[in-house]
Amino acid sequence: MFTFFGVLISVVSTLAYVTAAECLQPHDNTWNSSFTLTEDQINSLGLSNETAHNLEVVIRFEQTNWATGSVINDPFYMDLPANATTAPAGSLLKLEAFTNTSTYTIAPSLALSRSIYQSKTLNGTIVPVSAYILWPYHALGGAKAAPLVSWGHGTAGLVAESLAGYAVVATDYAGLGVPFYPYGSRITHQYVASPAGGNDILYAAQAARSAFPDQLTEEFVVYEHSQGGGTAWAAAQQQIELQIPGYLGTIAGSPVTNTTMLVKTTGQALAMIIWPDMNIAEMLTTRGQALLTLVEEIQGCSVAVNTALSGTLEADPTAALMKDGFVDSYWASSFANLTTVGGQHFVGPMLVFHGTNDTILPEALTALSFKQTCASFPERELRYVVAQGVDHVATSYATQQIWLKWLEDRFISKNKGGGHAARSTEEFGASSCTIETIGDDTVRPLDNYQSALNWHLSYAPNGLL
Ligand SMILES: *[C@@H]1O[C@H](CO)[C@@H](O)[C@H](O)[C@H]1NC(C)=O
Ligand SMILES: *[C@@H]1O[C@H](CO)[C@@H](O)[C@H](O)[C@H]1NC(C)=O
Ligand SMILES: *[C@@H]1O[C@H](CO)[C@@H](O)[C@H](O)[C@H]1NC(C)=O
Ligand SMILES: *[C@@H]1O[C@H](CO)[C@@H](O)[C@H](O)[C@H]1NC(C)=O
Ligand SMILES: *[C@@H]1O[C@H](CO)[C@@H](O)[C@H](O)[C@H]1NC(C)=O
Ligand SMILES: *[C@@H]1O[C@H](CO)[C@@H](O)[C@H](O)[C@H]1NC(C)=O
Ligand SMILES: *[C@@H]1O[C@H](CO)[C@@H](O)[C@H](O)[C@H]1NC(C)=O
Ligand SMILES: *[C@@H]1O[C@H](CO)[C@@H](O)[C@H](O)[C@H]1NC(C)=O
Repeated sequence: MFTFFGVLISVVSTLAYVTAAECLQPHDNTWNSSFTLTEDQINSLGLSNETAHNLEVVIRFEQTNWATGSVINDPFYMDLPANATTAPAGSLLKLEAFTNTSTYTIAPSLALSRSIYQSKTLNGTIVPVSAYILWPYHALGGAKAAPLVSWGHGTAGLVAESLAGYAVVATDYAGLGVPFYPYGSRITHQYVASPAGGNDILYAAQAARSAFPDQLTEEFVVYEHSQGGGTAWAAAQQQIELQIPGYLGTIAGSPVTNTTMLVKTTGQALAMIIWPDMNIAEMLTTRGQALLTLVEEIQGCSVAVNTALSGTLEADPTAALMKDGFVDSYWASSFANLTTVGGQHFVGPMLVFHGTNDTILPEALTALSFKQTCASFPERELRYVVAQGVDHVATSYATQQIWLKWLEDRFISKNKGGGHAARSTEEFGASSCTIETIGDDTVRPLDNYQSALNWHLSYAPNGLL
């Protein structure tokens, strides 16, 4: 079975100017979009009427959700200061300290800022990236400066909003907010190119700190979950070199580790579409390319791509989208070599969690990376929590008490490592690696629990009493 969730985002991310922010923005009670597909678009993939209809509704929904219209019409993302061509990675380029949240879907008693800062792509090219900061009303522990979490967004801002008491700087990732380089060419999002995302997440913290030196702690924790989840792990590895001041550790939830292994294990063949300099024709069949063209044209977010993809598979279940043997190609191999996380040096402590019923990214791959890392670097503080019977997105909810405590320990007691019920596995002896399984003793039987996020937040203009 194909589950394309993470992959879909990648396709969109790569090809559209659409920001993550746009994907997540609120919508009015009425559609503010009359989007329709052309006959050519429908025919190019032989989509059924039902799929075509669904796709139109999805795009109308997404466009209606845009808080400030498309990024290409928003001067905040389009007008970069002159120093964007030269400023070093980690520096702040632009700041909107107060963002009017009246058209955003955020929880009450949060405030919002937007920024653009400099990051680096996979090969080290400087690239402007946008981020937003969500501010708590009352900082953790009542402190003057809010403790900072550098968050890599997943499917929605939900978990970030639940980080009560923390300020959350959430990068859009390169290519997903700011659409163009200062000299005009398009910024391609490097999906699952974990070290590129690692730059984005570390530099977001550095730039946020320089924007608000008094309102944010210098210390920060990196937290990422869901699609593209190797980013946080990559950040922990890159911190060896980048040495961003104030780094306290990393939480990597349900991460992508090795893209080749992932594709081989799950058949998520499109996962490598993001290779920045990829010749698409080498990777995709004619049909795969037609799907990509459609996705590019409609500028849709994940649900739109999911709809287009499932409609394409339904229209012709036997037609391949990826060329035979691509996964064993030079490109796939070099991409995996550049981006695989695990088995390498990193700056701890790091908390990794993964659910055993993850239908998108198999837990076994994360277990393997954990083992490789512990075997090579037993002295590094690495804690792995395995959530039994839990699916991809649900895992960050299932483990919430664990990671909230872990976060708090980083900032408050700095009680590194101690205090939890982890057991050291024999394999790692007296090392700082721990693995623990939760879910043996759930309050209700495991199969009673809701397995997936099956709703989206949306905007309610007049509020609710
Ligand atoms: C799909 O819609 C077109 C145009 O409205 C119509 O001609 C065609 O019969 C429909 N096909 C199906 C399978 O319903
Ligand atoms: C509808 O979209 C247009 C174009 O993006 C925008 O100018 C307008 O403000 C939007 N209207 C509402 C009610 O959101
Ligand atoms: C870049 O220029 C903008 C606008 O003048 C300024 O606000 C910002 O601080 C500058 N950033 C750097 C790193 O020089
Ligand atoms: C935010 O924008 C809304 C709608 O334009 C406006 O009514 C409100 O006064 C603004 N809020 C602030 C604090 O500026
Ligand atoms: C590095 O990657 C960027 C895109 O991130 C690309 O535009 C540039 O040509 C690449 N440079 C080299 C030297 O490969
Ligand atoms: C990837 O790394 C492996 C192991 O170091 C090496 O054998 C292989 O040639 C590399 N692939 C590419 C395309 O460089
Ligand atoms: C990624 O996984 C593939 C397939 O299992 C393996 O051959 C390759 O060595 C791995 N690459 C890295 C960098 O670990
Ligand atoms: C987890 O997956 C296994 C194997 O597919 C299945 O038997 C079990 O019911 C699932 N558990 C839950 C809680 O969904």
